[in-house]
Amino acid sequence: MAEEMRVLLEYADKINPESADEYVKVGGYAGLEKARKMVINDLIQEVKSSGLRGRGGAGFNAGMKWSFVPKNAEIKYVVCNLDEGEPGTYKDRIICEKNAQALLEGMAICGTAISSKQGYIYCRGEYPFTVKLLKNAIQSAKELGALGDFNIEVRMGAGAYVCGEETALIESIEGHRGEPRFKPPFPGVAGLWGVPTVVNNVETFACLPYILTNGSDWFAGIGAAKYPGTKIVTLTGDAVNTTFFEVPTDYILRDVIYKLGGGVKGGKKLKAVQVGGTSGSFIPEQNLDTQIDFDSMGAIGAALGSGAVLVLDETRDIVDIVTRISKFFEHESCGKCNPCREGTFRCREIMEKINSGKASQKDIDNLLLLTRVMQKAALCGLGQAAPFPIQSTIKHFAHEYARKIV
Ligand SMILES: Cc1cc2nc3c(=O)[nH]c(=O)nc-3n(C[C@H](O)[C@H](O)[C@H](O)COP(=O)(O)O)c2cc1C
Repeated sequence: MAEEMRVLLEYADKINPESADEYVKVGGYAGLEKARKMVINDLIQEVKSSGLRGRGGAGFNAGMKWSFVPKNAEIKYVVCNLDEGEPGTYKDRIICEKNAQALLEGMAICGTAISSKQGYIYCRGEYPFTVKLLKNAIQSAKELGALGDFNIEVRMGAGAYVCGEETALIESIEGHRGEPRFKPPFPGVAGLWGVPTVVNNVETFACLPYILTNGSDWFAGIGAAKYPGTKIVTLTGDAVNTTFFEVPTDYILRDVIYKLGGGVKGGKKLKAVQVGGTSGSFIPEQNLDTQIDFDSMGAIGAALGSGAVLVLDETRDIVDIVTRISKFFEHESCGKCNPCREGTFRCREIMEKINSGKASQKDIDNLLLLTRVMQKAALCGLGQAAPFPIQSTIKHFAHEYARKIV
């Protein structure tokens, strides 16, 4: 299998992403029209049956998430997570730049399913161009009457990685410091301004028009059975073609790198691949024949996350890279919970000691113990996932650590 499968990106660069008229000409807004004619329970069931799972990292069944929203609440919100703060990840920006109307349509379909009239797109502060594009796209959809009485506003973040976490994102929209909340209650029950709120990723929403138009069976039949559909992956680092691809979820990582990505630059050997962004695990060469679906990645101790694929060639210094990553997490920890605030600080401290050749095996043992505590005790996914790059490299690239310790 060497070809891409373009669903969300089928009309990329062929239509103006801001124009609702052009989108309608290629079949756009037919999914929303269909959704509006359905009984709400049937609509939620259709999304559940499609098997669509969140593309923001946690892989939760989208229809199931919607079904937890209390039916009797008077006000409810639909929130789109376009924070995309994970280094190496830019798939959500690409979806907006190539097919913004599908995102708006997907949010309106969700609004129909949970009876909400108001949606917010939370966009990372570093994407001013995308914000402008989205505002124009919303205006165009309004002028065409495509969204009916569903209203969408764009809110901008200020550059904090933690604001991608759904409850920190909600705090940020409310005008507070971006810090995660304790869960439960989950946003579906008490979210934005305390009312039921569905938070989904851009890619999750953008799949919905195609599910409604083509049917849940069609979607469920694409890619991996337990994580169906397509996935947009972004290839970065030492690959020849550092760009984005849309592939079915049973596509294997090796093909992303070698068939679509053209292999490693300069004919060098591959040393490692980090999947899922900065918080992802490092995967050695022997695990490249893994499907890029949520469960297959989990089975090799990795996480699909955002779908970012970072290629590292044989010359790269793994310990040095992980030291830099540990600085990133120390900087981005919001400080609300002790395990993450102190844990990311200590991880960075020990990684620097190892990297500068001053550490012993005892430091590595302490580091591993510390990361296990963080995973269990941190309040949110930031502190829980920060250990993955450290643990996976100590496991798969132990010799690189051994070379640096006294
Ligand atoms: C530190 C941190 C950063 C996150 N960043 C993002 C992000 O940029 N985009 C995103 O969709 N989800 C992000 N998430 C996951 C969200 O909390 C949430 O699970 C997701 O938006 C739900 O949407 P989905 O079910 O469609 O995947 C992040 C989680 C954590 C812990």
